[in-house]
Amino acid sequence: MAATGSEKQGGDGVNSFYVSTPIYYVNDAPHLGHAYTTVAGDVLTRWHRQRGEKVWYLTGTDEHGQKIMRTAEANNVTPQAWCDKLVEEAWKPLWEHLNIANDDFIRTTEKRHTDRVQEFVQDLFDKDQIYKGGYEGPYCVGCEEYKLPGDLIEAEDGTKLCPIHKKPVELLKEENYFFKLSEYGPKLMEFYAANPDFIQPESARNEIVNFVKQGLQDLSISRSTFDWGVPVPWDPKHVIYVWIDALLNYATAVGYGANQEKFDGTFPANVHLIGKDILRFHSVIWPAMLMAQGLPLPGKVVANGWLMVGGEKMSKSNLTGIKPQDLTSHFGVDAYRWYFLRAIAYGSDGSFSWEDFSARYTSELANDYGNLASRVAAMVGKYFDGALPEATAAGDAERAVQEGLARAVATADARIGEELDFQGGILAIFDFVKQVNGYITEQEPWKVAKDTSPEGQARLAAILYTAAESLRGVAVLLNSVMPDTSQKLWDSLGAEASLGALADQRVQDAGRWGQLPAGATVTKGAVLFPRLEEKPA
Ligand code: ME8
Ligand code: MG
Repeated sequence: MAATGSEKQGGDGVNSFYVSTPIYYVNDAPHLGHAYTTVAGDVLTRWHRQRGEKVWYLTGTDEHGQKIMRTAEANNVTPQAWCDKLVEEAWKPLWEHLNIANDDFIRTTEKRHTDRVQEFVQDLFDKDQIYKGGYEGPYCVGCEEYKLPGDLIEAEDGTKLCPIHKKPVELLKEENYFFKLSEYGPKLMEFYAANPDFIQPESARNEIVNFVKQGLQDLSISRSTFDWGVPVPWDPKHVIYVWIDALLNYATAVGYGANQEKFDGTFPANVHLIGKDILRFHSVIWPAMLMAQGLPLPGKVVANGWLMVGGEKMSKSNLTGIKPQDLTSHFGVDAYRWYFLRAIAYGSDGSFSWEDFSARYTSELANDYGNLASRVAAMVGKYFDGALPEATAAGDAERAVQEGLARAVATADARIGEELDFQGGILAIFDFVKQVNGYITEQEPWKVAKDTSPEGQARLAAILYTAAESLRGVAVLLNSVMPDTSQKLWDSLGAEASLGALADQRVQDAGRWGQLPAGATVTKGAVLFPRLEEKPA
């Protein structure tokens, strides 16, 4: 049985937790859907870094194929010039804007990639896994995918449409090289059975198991009617099919055929994050390609659902006019990173609405979380001159809060770190925020403050210490989702002086009570979630 992601062997004994996003087509600028997958990966990898693990987070761009070629032609530039412009002016700047901490960015037009793609395909050819044939059938250029007749839907006039792009498919008839994919069906079924978590969510797994069970056809892996691609090494009239080229990015970017030590300690991916539109490529074709080479298979392929607008999948060809930047300029980058993971169960489809985002921003971020942080800082300022008091009079109410934090840590770590249930993890953290708010409401520190006896002052100190120490835990837990906000909170708690950098706080340790020392300098600091302006027209 092939090894999976958990069994890789780094030269130095330290293996990376390796997560990838799809490499996106650069026919147009990124939209909310691309940002959704990339933010999810960023939260997942930041979470694992915060556990102290070695992490490798990869994203990039898919630049070959007919779709890109036609877009460039329509814009009267060469495909390479088109890709360069989109990558530099649209894709990389958005990831920077959204605070994506990727470790590498691979472009499929880079030589480090194309050379290795040729070697990989040549190797398969030499192993007799590739033969020459002819393809005749439907193709969707939007998907860059050979379609099976059963995949298509029909327009009212009988035209066959791609079910994803809702556009007519093209009929191809060309001489192609084929990969013997059909031979891998039984091995794939065996692999799925032995690794029940390989494809997530469950609905995606069922879809793929049913698909493979019906039997696989050999896959055309070259095109011969245009030339924007990696030439087939033994027959340069052909270019390698864009999806074979693209999937290999997950190997070439981490040293395949070039840096064995890097490759051994990183490959295969622990998690390939994708959307459900590209499930077959990642859970059928990609594993079969790896099996053909005797390479280890990825740990998990996790498909997110579709962000919908007006009942339709949001796509580049079905533009809704909303760019990520339109939302971040109104709600801020951190709220944007939080919103989609909070509002939609990962794996399910979800609709975006401005009204829902506004309502959640105001109630959950500004009122529940932001107000808690500013009230606590204000009271420590007012009653203790900004020096965090010692909690000498803690009782049952305080112990309940301590237990609440420990529970939030354990739940969030399981949900976000292991299950990729971002919504469940965020909810666990915000339940704790609610608990702390309830605690303050019950304890009424503003009333306790009027009791100037030593007992009264000790109670007041215990309440404010408990609230501040709770926020210390919240700052750590939310650092992967909202890094700028967590840093503001960390600064406001004066935590750095005694506990060090926020990034160095371990998730596993976040629930250990009593880390913030008495005497820490608490300041009012920046407002975490400013009131929203009017919705722009
Ligand atoms: O498929 N909702 O690139 P692509 C949620 N180049 N996620 C969405 C989305 C939506 N409405 N729209 C896009 C390709 N996505 C290939 C990938 S990988 C070896 C090659 C996200 O630009 C989602 O992750 O069409 C989806 O799978 C991906 O963007 C498709 O991006
Ligand atoms: Mg697409």
